[in-house]
Amino acid sequence: MVKTLIRVLRGETVSPPPIWLMRQAGRYLPEYRALRAKAPDFVKFCLTPDLATEVTLQPVKRFDLDAAILFADILLVPHALGQKVWFAEGEGPRLEPLRDMAELRKLAWRPELLAPVMETIRGVRASLPERAALIGFAGAPWTVATYMIEGMGGTEHSIIRALAEKDWVFFGSLMDVLVEASSAYLIAQADAGAEALQLFESWAATVPDTLWGKAVLEPTARIVKNVKAKHPSIPIVGFPRGRGPMAASYAKATGVDGVGIDQMTNIASLNAGVALQGNLSPELLLDGGERMRAEAKKLVVAMAGKPFIFNLGHGVLQPTPPEHVAELVAAVRS
Ligand code: CP3
Repeated sequence: MVKTLIRVLRGETVSPPPIWLMRQAGRYLPEYRALRAKAPDFVKFCLTPDLATEVTLQPVKRFDLDAAILFADILLVPHALGQKVWFAEGEGPRLEPLRDMAELRKLAWRPELLAPVMETIRGVRASLPERAALIGFAGAPWTVATYMIEGMGGTEHSIIRALAEKDWVFFGSLMDVLVEASSAYLIAQADAGAEALQLFESWAATVPDTLWGKAVLEPTARIVKNVKAKHPSIPIVGFPRGRGPMAASYAKATGVDGVGIDQMTNIASLNAGVALQGNLSPELLLDGGERMRAEAKKLVVAMAGKPFIFNLGHGVLQPTPPEHVAELVAAVRS
């Protein structure tokens, strides 16, 4: 039996729609916090298969979701390229910033550092509930480059924009490095048993229009092509957060099978020609209650008859009560 998430990504309409949530494994779950307390180094936590397997399965078991997303992080790719990556308590990710060709030349892709991720994938597949598909992922090149160059998230992104506009020799080379590494990483994930893949372009909104083609569409299309050359039937979702209105042209230019839609976009107005995934506001899930249930049902009704995967427009917020997730799943399935 083909899992509902895969059917939707092949263009079928499924009612009720499959549901999973970005950041469904994470700090809002007490069982996550309990395991995380045992592993203060977040990179090591991601690279410890027993722990990563258990954390991947936690939300799927608790809420009977239609997909598990591999527990890992988009910054494992810079880590495996040799860039220093760490997670400062309460501050989010930090990287030793990379700003020129000399620094880029020092990086070297060491896929063996990510072998534990493949072990996690095999472990998850071995005990995944029947209805759930396992989603592997990587960051898309612009977004990963943002962290690599800025050294953190949440900045104005003025350094990456200036470098990308002024120094394409450097920036284009960095895109090439990320396309090659991410393609190899995603192919390895599919080899290990990932059933669908997602490319997170979390910082799509800060890309200047003049660079949209060169820094987003082209690198993403190259990754999709590389992965599909080895795994022709694995579905790939792209998530250009903040660029929902461009879903159709993004899908066409990149070759993805599905597009993730943020909560700022009116998803019902889109006609992307591929499956759509999203776009309930994480704040509605945080608040829960009747308003959440009503908005969730509105979204299901608005997307009825189209290939649609229910999700949030971005990740679960940390203070979200886990019971709200159970209520959301029930509302979507009722
Ligand atoms: O459940 C899941 O979604 C699977 C695991 C997952 C994580 N990160 C775990 C994580 C996934 C898919 C990601 C992707 C990721 N990581 C993205 C793209 C999605 C997005 O949010 O836009 C980005 C930009 C990152 C980089 C990153 N990693 C940030 C910004 C942070 C800090 C977030 C925070 O709330 O502090 C992380 C750390 C991180 N990645 C955590 C988790 C569960 C929190 C770590 C902790 O326990 O302290």
